[in-house]
Amino acid sequence: MELFQASGLTCLLIPTAFFVTFVLLLLRASGRRGRRLPPGNLGLPVIGETLQLIAAYKTENPEPFIDDRVRRFGAVFATHVFGEPTVFSADPETNRFILQNEGKLFECSYPRSLCNLLGKHSLLLMKGSLHKRMHSLTMSFGNSSIIRDHLLVDIDRLIRLNLESWSDRVLLMEEAKKITFELTLKQLMSFDPCDWTESLRKEYVLVIEGFFSVPLPIFSTTYRRAIKARTKVAEALSLVVRQRRKQCEAGARKKDMLGALLDGGGGSGFSDEQIVDFLVALLVAGYETTSTIMTLAVKFLTETPRALAQLKEEHDKIRAGKYPCEGLDWNDYKSMPFTQCVINETLRVANIIGGVFRRAMTDVNVKGYTIPKGWKVFASFRAVHLDQDHFKEARTFNPWRWQSNSGSTTPGNIFTPFGGGPRLCPGYELARVEISVFLHHLVTRFSWEPAEEDKLVFFPTTRTQKRYPIYVRRHDASGQCI
Ligand code: HEM
Ligand SMILES: *[C@@H]1O[C@H](CO)[C@@H](O)[C@H](O)[C@H]1NC(C)=O
Ligand SMILES: *[C@@H]1O[C@H](CO)[C@@H](O)[C@H](O)[C@H]1NC(C)=O
Repeated sequence: MELFQASGLTCLLIPTAFFVTFVLLLLRASGRRGRRLPPGNLGLPVIGETLQLIAAYKTENPEPFIDDRVRRFGAVFATHVFGEPTVFSADPETNRFILQNEGKLFECSYPRSLCNLLGKHSLLLMKGSLHKRMHSLTMSFGNSSIIRDHLLVDIDRLIRLNLESWSDRVLLMEEAKKITFELTLKQLMSFDPCDWTESLRKEYVLVIEGFFSVPLPIFSTTYRRAIKARTKVAEALSLVVRQRRKQCEAGARKKDMLGALLDGGGGSGFSDEQIVDFLVALLVAGYETTSTIMTLAVKFLTETPRALAQLKEEHDKIRAGKYPCEGLDWNDYKSMPFTQCVINETLRVANIIGGVFRRAMTDVNVKGYTIPKGWKVFASFRAVHLDQDHFKEARTFNPWRWQSNSGSTTPGNIFTPFGGGPRLCPGYELARVEISVFLHHLVTRFSWEPAEEDKLVFFPTTRTQKRYPIYVRRHDASGQCI
């Protein structure tokens, strides 16, 4: 949530304070005339409650900002953050309503500075029928039959390759990021890890840092560095796209995402620039998300020995039925029920995507209130996932809770780590498979303990810089498997 740097804000405060106070008064007045705004506190002019939001996210309590306001105002409340009046929802029905009405009553909305980093043809920014077409192309590219028949072999091999290279002390978060980046590059354009992919990743890390330095880019060197790095990444990728286009015209096709894009995705063809933006966005979307879940699953397992033992038993059983170096297949993946509980529970308590921002395209009525046209809306998944009313002892890591019910007490709109509606995450199955395979090789080949000095806090409230170093011990001669 550290979406910007607070210091820059004060520069803007004085000149615009009068103007904004005026606008806020107008808004409140119009609220009184017929429309009822959700209850809440819009805070100070311009900065609103932004500073409270940031302060809250620097503490260890997962949801202090939202908790406090839900108690005072209810599950749907108004506030004013990042320079705009915003309605927060901690209510599953309202969240579902927001997700399902994407493109009708609400549309996704990112700050300008983020759009520059993503590129204007990114799936995250597309709207309307083009979005629909590209979303379904992306969905079908990552669907379960493609994973089963094509991607799983590489996922298994590349994860094994990464683990082979571990020394006795590793920075788990770093390795997890390397893994997810390598997997995405492989699946998008059939690259195996090499010096080129690693130097691309170095630039890439700078781009990602830019995402956490907005929306006052003029003041931010991190942001400027990110824009430069983005240009470099785009150049490197355009080169690849051009080469592949030539090969493609000469009749050499590859069955990867880039191949599908070069084929035109079932419509008129895409330009190189469109394809590059699209690839950049896919790399962004899967990188930080999947790697934090991998790392935090390990952290929670380490702190919950009974869960780790049960997970290990599940995976040892799978291993026992295979040759030492044999890769996992789809049946193996499908016989990991407890692993899925662990993954769901990690997604529930520790997803770095706490929710999604939208903008109201028109006046929208929810729960007897009006969200005025143009206002921002934040559908908080995390607030629902950590609500005692929906999950017993919601703030405890308890993978067994998923065992007993398998969905009965948690209908689809309560647990939404991957969003929903027209923008449902196209990587939801892929992420699950990647995390499962990673856990498989980790627990069957290694034991570990965390290195004392750099323990992750319970919850990644602020974007954690921590890398979760662990000491590992290898249990087999897996070095021979490459
Ligand atoms: C644990 C891992 C992941 C989590 C928690 C996650 C979560 C999400 C969520 C909540 C959204 C919805 C955003 C919105 O509604 O505005 C989303 C969208 C998206 N995700 Fe994921 N994701 C994960 C992994 C991945 C992976 C591995 C990929 C790559 C294939 C991916 C690609 C995308 C894309 C392209 C979108 C944009 C979809 C659109 O706007 O139409 N995600 N993700
Ligand atoms: C997955 O996508 C492919 C096209 O990429 C399609 O042929 C197949 O039917 C899809 N499978 C499922 C289970 O949706
Ligand atoms: C995990 O969550 C998904 C929804 O993302 C759900 O479909 C699935 O049934 C859950 N798995 C378990 C074991 O409860």
